[in-house]
Amino acid sequence: MFFQRHFPDEPALLGDRRYRFPRTRSWRTWTIDRETLFERWLGVCRNLPVKFLEIGSFEGASAIWTLSNILTHPDSTLTCVDNNHLRSDKQFLANLEASGHRSRATVHWIDSHDIRRHVPDEHFDFIYVDGSHAAPNVLFDVVNAFLICKPGGLVGCDDYLFKTPEAGSVPKPAIDSFVRLMGDRIEIVHSAYQLWFRKREGTPGA
Ligand SMILES: C[S@@+](CC[C@H](N)C(=O)[O-])C[C@H]1O[C@@H](n2cnc3c(N)ncnc32)[C@H](O)[C@@H]1O
Repeated sequence: MFFQRHFPDEPALLGDRRYRFPRTRSWRTWTIDRETLFERWLGVCRNLPVKFLEIGSFEGASAIWTLSNILTHPDSTLTCVDNNHLRSDKQFLANLEASGHRSRATVHWIDSHDIRRHVPDEHFDFIYVDGSHAAPNVLFDVVNAFLICKPGGLVGCDDYLFKTPEAGSVPKPAIDSFVRLMGDRIEIVHSAYQLWFRKREGTPGA
């Protein structure tokens, strides 16, 4: 369309006047494809008292969309972990307040390497891994995500196919190594630009 105001696949959330997502919009951290994937795998969690965690919150787009569209039960919660590397803390907290969901979110401004000092093992129904893109950090994040995920829970790794090296590496080799080593302790449920897996029941956790 000639007078298109947004990217063709820009989610409605990014155009909502309550929020400011300037860099999220230009970097495309949150898109219709991601919403579709979240709907498909997490839609069953609506109106259930589930616990989600995300590594990498930035300006809050994924957090606010998830709180608004999936975490609809009054006792459902989202734990957010971010080292504020991109100085998005004020924007994130302002957006979260504007969403009306602040009371169901816990925010840890920490490096994701330290995550298990702050949250219990085998505790979360879903973990979204969307922090650093450097392979060693991605490997730490996906291992920690496995450990803090409940048996039967899901882990979604964003940017599995991200191409621009960060500190000299990209996520894919780290995620591939993890998948190879875990064998049948995990079940891949989606593999495209993002990779999602289920932690099988009965697997030893930590
Ligand atoms: C791609 S953005 C997250 C986007 C967000 N999930 C969304 O969809 O809008 C990545 C975020 O991860 C954070 N980050 C990067 N490395 C990190 C680390 N080692 N520990 C914790 N957070 C980190 C950055 O500060 C940034 O806010």
